[in-house]
Amino acid sequence: MRFIIVTTALLSISCSSSTQDNSGITRQAQMQALGKILFFDSNLSSNNNQSCASCHDPATGFADPNVSKTAPVSMGSVTGAFGNRNAPTAAYAFFTPAFTKTQPHTTVDGTVSNYQGGQFLDGRRDNLMMQAKDPFLNPVEMNNANAAEVVNKVSNSSYASDFIAVFGTGAFDNIDTAYDSIAMAIAAFEASDEVNLFTSKFDDVRNGTATFSASEQRGFKLFTSTKAKCANCHTIPDTGTILFTNHRYYNIGTPSNPDNPAVQAYSAYIDTGLAENISVIDAGDAVSEAGKFRTPTLRNIEKTAPYMHNGVYQTLEQVIRHYDIMVSQQFITPEVDNEIANELINNGNPLGLQTEEITDLVAFMKTLTDK
Ligand code: HEC
Ligand code: HEC
Repeated sequence: MRFIIVTTALLSISCSSSTQDNSGITRQAQMQALGKILFFDSNLSSNNNQSCASCHDPATGFADPNVSKTAPVSMGSVTGAFGNRNAPTAAYAFFTPAFTKTQPHTTVDGTVSNYQGGQFLDGRRDNLMMQAKDPFLNPVEMNNANAAEVVNKVSNSSYASDFIAVFGTGAFDNIDTAYDSIAMAIAAFEASDEVNLFTSKFDDVRNGTATFSASEQRGFKLFTSTKAKCANCHTIPDTGTILFTNHRYYNIGTPSNPDNPAVQAYSAYIDTGLAENISVIDAGDAVSEAGKFRTPTLRNIEKTAPYMHNGVYQTLEQVIRHYDIMVSQQFITPEVDNEIANELINNGNPLGLQTEEITDLVAFMKTLTDK
């Protein structure tokens, strides 16, 4: 049922996937195994205390297990260094298409979006390989001084021979090439079945090997209904890979989070989402795109609290209340009050979800957890 999209950056991987070493292991499998080691290696941070997996832990749906109400965003390798955003899952990110401006797309409720895809919540990197080069050097993440420092650590690691086995004897000779190879191996791991499991109850129901409970079934119906409108953006196509996102950008009126260290440091701090990405959106689009974020996947959502780009909500019930009443009844002030999606304004009416319906929606979303 599943199909794999081969992105340009991963072409070199798939082209060579048929080459086998003496043991019969494909180069792609070797590269994925190497990528996994890199993904979990804490030595690749300035204080030898943080790996990609620290903030993207498989046990919590490849999101950060250490975020809390007091610090709803991840701490970096340096104690007390915080980024401004809540770490999204790194699982299923492989399926996000490259960032593009598209023909305007309109939902059935009339909400228009102009942009789609890209890694990070503002789409600023086109693919996983480009993305993977950033955290190592980000001062509020793994905080290495430069690419050479990362390459040096890998070349002195216990798995340096694995790296040479995959990328050749000269693999460490050129810093830029070696750094690209590190990112390529990590991207190969993130593209692997181990990260993109598709083993949730939802998938089992699709495959005919499980059935929803009555509550889950009601939640599913509601999720795709014109009452709750969730599937307008968290789409569930009839065929193909189901990711619960159309990868498009919307402003759903998420409020600022007073517990976000960025807001505590500077109370007027505003995350303008897609408009932070001014190097790639069209000149003149910065105002209209402000406040829009890429619709996230809902796979493993049960495990990835807190929610939203700034971690403002702790529970799925709170998220549903946000959609139901918080925006339409103006109980909250959106972080950026611009082009709020019609689904949330709903002509000034609450969605009108009953307590049991909220329970059902949560029950449905919990069927998206991988085994
Ligand atoms: C300190 C915590 C932290 C570390 C360490 C970290 N990340 Fe992230 N990751 C984040 C945050 C926060 C974001 C969102 C940032 C943004 O949108 O500006 C993110 C975004 C991502 C995304 C994009 C997901 C999406 O849907 O857009 C991927 C993929 C990812 N990280 C993989 C990695 C890899 C690979 C590493 C190691 C090289 C890594 N991360 C290290 C916190 C972290
Ligand atoms: C107009 C498009 C749209 C509609 C309709 C919509 N969503 Fe969302 N959803 C988004 C966007 C965009 C975000 C990210 C917003 C942010 O980070 O500020 C999001 C975030 C979420 C999150 C948090 C994800 C995370 O990883 O933090 C959950 C849960 C969620 N939506 C569930 C729902 C449910 C349930 C419904 C229906 C009641 C719904 N959504 C309707 C676009 C939409």
